[in-house]
Amino acid sequence: MKKPCITLGIETSCDETSCALVSDGQKILGHLVLSQEKLHAHFGGVVPELASRAHIENLIPLLKKLFNDSKLSLEEVDAICVTQGPGLMGSLLVGMQTAKGLAFGTQKPLVGVNHIHAHLYAPFMEAKVPLPALGIVVSGGHSAFFLVSSPSSYKLIAQTQDDALGEAFDKVARILDLPYPGGPLVEKLALQGTPIYPFKAGNIKNNPYALSFSGLKTAVLYAAKGLHGDKPPLTEEEKCHVAASFQKAAFSNLFEKAMKSAKDFECQSFIFGGGVTQNQALRAVFQKSSFPCFFPDPVLCLDNAAMIAGLGYQLYLEGKTTAIHNATVYPTGVLCDI
Ligand code: KG4
Ligand code: ZN
Repeated sequence: MKKPCITLGIETSCDETSCALVSDGQKILGHLVLSQEKLHAHFGGVVPELASRAHIENLIPLLKKLFNDSKLSLEEVDAICVTQGPGLMGSLLVGMQTAKGLAFGTQKPLVGVNHIHAHLYAPFMEAKVPLPALGIVVSGGHSAFFLVSSPSSYKLIAQTQDDALGEAFDKVARILDLPYPGGPLVEKLALQGTPIYPFKAGNIKNNPYALSFSGLKTAVLYAAKGLHGDKPPLTEEEKCHVAASFQKAAFSNLFEKAMKSAKDFECQSFIFGGGVTQNQALRAVFQKSSFPCFFPDPVLCLDNAAMIAGLGYQLYLEGKTTAIHNATVYPTGVLCDI
């Protein structure tokens, strides 16, 4: 029997320190995620310097625990895969330097992985996806559509021109006096509300696929202020209606553009990645479409290293390794194609 290929994944792009061991890009042998949510909650968002310091403290002990718990040794690993970007510069560097050290010390191949593509790889770890698929990433940092023609081929179709959808959720949460990260709390409020406010997400001239959520967030702010001219604050009932109206506007806009992209690019299915895809109202909207939908398991929706080890395996098979001496991180903007 062929020996399985074991990849180690390391993820430190934002506020989760995570490492994982994955066999043949599919089977999770060990997976740990340490969230820094409590560390940043007080500031209403991720503080980059605090995030990188926490990664430094946590990553090595987490790696030790991963190998201990899974009863595997570093010698048994075939390739060391690490998030290369996009993400916070300092945080990415902690993961990259650690991965480089491990790769150099063991003379194992290093594989740099794009975090956004890895989010879209997550559904492939659990299901056989009809291809090509339309990849929909909606997270705290990114919102984009990709044409996915294989588990390792991601071509950018369009992305948000301003705020990411998760970012808009977090900002709306702040307007409604909810703590960070606000997405799940906005979802909870929306369940008790009715979408009575006529909010709309933005459209971009000359690009029918591109997304825009900053105008929607501002409309929510004005509506919230306008209701009582700043004071007294919104009633609980009004907050629920605002949350429901925001969600409806955001998801119907995302759905319309996803449908157009899927038809124009002849896709056979939808695959989803990123924290916002945990939202049940979003899932319900897409599940009404004619395309089969593949959502990752909840642990694979949020930032995690299993998806990094998984996509890293595919890249390793294709010989797409990264030279240790000049491996670097790319913090911004690189929603590049592979
Ligand atoms: O993918 P992720 O863990 O991190 C990034 O790469 O950004 O996504 C985090 C984002 C946050 O903005 C959070 O508010 C949002 O996902 N989120 C949600 C839900 N759960 C998490 N947004 C809406 N509804 C949810 N249930
Ligand atoms: Zn992410």
